[in-house]
Amino acid sequence: MRRTIFAMMFGLFSVVEAVLITAVPSSAAEDVVALRQADMKAMAAAAKRISDMFKDPANYKAAEFRSAADAIRDRSGVVLSGHFASEAASPQSKARPNIREERERFDRIANDLRDYAVALDAAAQNNPGPMPASMRMKPGEAMGGGPLGTHVRNEQELSAMPAEHAFHLMLQTCTTCHAKFRTE
Ligand code: HEC
Repeated sequence: MRRTIFAMMFGLFSVVEAVLITAVPSSAAEDVVALRQADMKAMAAAAKRISDMFKDPANYKAAEFRSAADAIRDRSGVVLSGHFASEAASPQSKARPNIREERERFDRIANDLRDYAVALDAAAQNNPGPMPASMRMKPGEAMGGGPLGTHVRNEQELSAMPAEHAFHLMLQTCTTCHAKFRTE
């Protein structure tokens, strides 16, 4: 009995395997699209968690803030760029073909996103208790960030600004990239 079941399952596996092998090109392309879309959704959820804590600092918990920042850090930079490394021609994708032509710009925005996420992680590490006023933006604080409005000039400047400011600049990298490289 056991042997029959095993044989049946084995037979089934071979069939599945054969299907997978023949379907590799398009399924790999769809996988990478599904993966990067899932990563994007996870980053959106993490950004929402951080935003909620700035909206009501009473909700601030350093560990949660940090894990949300890390969720973005781990999906940005080269990880994000790598998901758009090849032309994944999938009807599910909203990525624009200009990513390949303007690779450098795309990668730079992906790296900026990571820099901001790293800065937010550091802010949470440095502020384990209640959210201090120094993490918040002062009323009327300028939102400058270089010629593109989002580019970090240097690490020092980034670590000197309030975490909330870095967070807003981080959200600008999302919208900048979407405006340029995502279809509506
Ligand atoms: C360097 C470019 C880039 C950055 C930075 C970026 N995105 Fe995206 N995002 C894209 C592209 C391109 C797509 C379309 C992907 C596809 O459909 O293949 C996308 C898609 C999405 C989607 C839709 C996912 C789906 O299910 O279709 C969400 C949500 C999203 N991004 C949120 C964010 C958030 C939040 C941030 C910032 C924390 C961010 N993105 C930063 C390029 C970027």
